Amino acid sequence: MLDEPLLDLDDIQGHVLVGFGRAFELLLGLKLIDGRLDQAKVALSNIVSHKITRAGTAARAKEVRRQLRLVGEAMPVANLVGCALALSATGLDKLAGVGQARQFSDSLFVEGQWADARALGDEVDAITGTPVGWQFGDSEQTTPDVLFIVAGPEFADVEQGADAILATFGDSVVVIYRECGRRIARQAEHFGFVDGVSQPGVRGRSDEGTFLTPRYYPENDPASLGWARPGQRLTWPGQFVFGYPGLDPDAVYEPGEITGGNNPLLRNGSLLVVRRLSQDVGRFWRAMADLADQLTLATGRPWTPEHAGAMCVGRWLDGTPLTQSPSEPDSAISANLMRLNGFNYVSPVPAAMLNIDDATLRDFPGARADGNGLACPYFSHIRKVNPRDHAHDFGGAGSTLHSQMLRRGVPFGPDWTGVEDRADRGLLFMSYQTSIQQGFHRLMTEWVKDALRPLAGGIDPLLGQVPRELSLIVDGRAITVSLPDRFVRATGGGYFFAPGLRALQSLLH
Ligand code: HEM
Repeated sequence: MLDEPLLDLDDIQGHVLVGFGRAFELLLGLKLIDGRLDQAKVALSNIVSHKITRAGTAARAKEVRRQLRLVGEAMPVANLVGCALALSATGLDKLAGVGQARQFSDSLFVEGQWADARALGDEVDAITGTPVGWQFGDSEQTTPDVLFIVAGPEFADVEQGADAILATFGDSVVVIYRECGRRIARQAEHFGFVDGVSQPGVRGRSDEGTFLTPRYYPENDPASLGWARPGQRLTWPGQFVFGYPGLDPDAVYEPGEITGGNNPLLRNGSLLVVRRLSQDVGRFWRAMADLADQLTLATGRPWTPEHAGAMCVGRWLDGTPLTQSPSEPDSAISANLMRLNGFNYVSPVPAAMLNIDDATLRDFPGARADGNGLACPYFSHIRKVNPRDHAHDFGGAGSTLHSQMLRRGVPFGPDWTGVEDRADRGLLFMSYQTSIQQGFHRLMTEWVKDALRPLAGGIDPLLGQVPRELSLIVDGRAITVSLPDRFVRATGGGYFFAPGLRALQSLLH
């Protein structure tokens, strides 16, 4: 077992390293009023002391949910209210003094997401270059200085939580964005695919000695050095939280350089990407029906829209990976936490005995590889954004790990009922990393929209720009189909910094 760093779980925010797993998550974006900053600082200090959820608290709640899921009980949504906060570069400058945000080597955070919109492939105004149709974040003025994320089991809980925050600030802030996300049935996103399955395994221990990311390989299995469980590769915490060893892509078992150096402002903080992504579900399924028709014509055998959709995502609606079950969903796989994400692309995952808890060893049957993309095409969303053990234009599998983020997305808007209703629904995409450049931005600007990278096959069907030519191999024959429509559109966003709580308090006094 490698020596892993001690994580300051009382200082790192719970949403960063663990997530809240609550049914409702409300985003509250505030602008601090110049001239009332002292009042706002007192309010913030109070909120930090009493309301913000620490990673240790979130980790203990998650462990209870994990234990229940392992014994086959439905995963309950946690019943406590969780709260996180993050600052934009402008917010940080207002609180800490002009120029503070420049301490970040990540210029994307400093400039703001609206300045990055064109590169991300968003629709922008031809003259000003600013994003079009965004509900917040399309300029410095509409980007929250402070963003709160309030989570709870009921809508009323998060509403009350947000109201209590506003009452604490009094007239020192104005609300510029308030929206409640909500987990929908089966932990799916609005197109209907199970989401939030694959996350990188963060190395590190609590001061009680337990690993933040539970380990399932017994210590005598060499896989335990690099993997938390099948398919979940371990990486160094500095990739997600400043002040810890980061990842050296060429020596993934060795702790890399401390991210953020010894800068006390950055320590235990993380950069947060928020993207409000509106999803046109009716248009998506019409496009999948059309894709199925093209595939039927090209192969001479019938395809369903669900199968076409699975090719676009890389998983069936229930989460079954296409690599493991190319022709139909398999509930034996999707219901098994170890098999749901227990696969690579190039090398098979060997069968193993997994240590489910201190008392139980469970048989993992292994998972086959799909190096040539015969089961799961190279263009599928999950392969575009995480080629796992495939080498690619940036280097080997270690460099892939470098672009991984901790994803914390939650859907917004009403459930899709199958009837066109023009409702605004989608995903409040959130991700944490210590380099937006290496993580979110690189995936979006290098791979998602490039038909040839990380592997040649087409542009990401969910996120890439149109029109898209998708190439796949069916029955040994190369086929190209086209996907002219776009069904995901950014309608808001921002780059933020979720500070460690001591650093934040020191800014406020
Ligand atoms: C509305 C937009 C989106 C939808 C509907 C969507 C849907 C999904 C689904 C269904 C999965 C598979 C479940 C899982 O592994 O958790 C997934 C995985 C993933 N998505 Fe997205 N996603 C969206 C936006 C994004 C964006 C903007 C990014 C950032 C580049 C992203 C990055 C990822 C990553 C890294 C994975 C995990 C892949 C893996 O490790 O196998 N997604 N997404």
